[in-house]
Amino acid sequence: MIRTERSIFSRAFSEKQRRELFDDNFLKIYHLSNCYNIPVLELDVALFLKSMVNSIKPKNILEIGCGAGASTYMLNYTNEVTIDAVDSNLIRINLAKENFAGFDNVTFHHDFAENFLQNTVKKYDFVFVDSVKKDYGKIWYYLKRVILNGATVVFDDFMLYGYLLQEDCEIPYKYMQGVRHLREFYNEIKSKCKNYTLLPIGNGVMVVNYEL
Ligand SMILES: C[S@@+](CC[C@H](N)C(=O)[O-])C[C@H]1O[C@@H](n2cnc3c(N)ncnc32)[C@H](O)[C@@H]1O
Repeated sequence: MIRTERSIFSRAFSEKQRRELFDDNFLKIYHLSNCYNIPVLELDVALFLKSMVNSIKPKNILEIGCGAGASTYMLNYTNEVTIDAVDSNLIRINLAKENFAGFDNVTFHHDFAENFLQNTVKKYDFVFVDSVKKDYGKIWYYLKRVILNGATVVFDDFMLYGYLLQEDCEIPYKYMQGVRHLREFYNEIKSKCKNYTLLPIGNGVMVVNYEL
């Protein structure tokens, strides 16, 4: 089967819609990410994140895999929220720091998520996870130590170009391991969490409402 790796549910935004829906600072970071070949969230996921934080109004947000900060920008819905944003890539973290110069409420951490999660003493009520997809199960394992009861956790790209839902024989070899890990993680969520949903936005967004 021939297919191009595109986000399965993404909608196309015209230039006019982009200018209407997103502010200049976001678009600047978004374009910069593209220029540096930094993977960046889909625009419809960006809008979804913005509406989530605007309605939930979390106080302490954690972001795993922040890249140059495009998604961070959407999470920063008020300067009263504190955001810890983590990425293991130093060039990206440095770009993110430049993009957020003057924002005292956002702290960028150059670290591996697994390490950060084992060492932080903070507790979070909203988490956005957008790192390597096959690591999501591992991230969830460490994440449970640092999230509050009732926290919302959003995992991006959960359907991995739709491969999550396909027969094994349809899945290219390079994605097979990732799909297996994601399926295991999905089964864990289904069996242990009461409140979760997998949404057809971008490349599939998983939202978990964590209850102890
Ligand atoms: C899809 S990109 C993030 C894009 C960003 N969320 C945005 O929309 O602008 C994934 C990021 O995860 C980072 N990453 C991958 N594995 C990681 C890990 N174990 N810990 C921390 N960051 C990781 C990569 O360096 C990369 O920048």
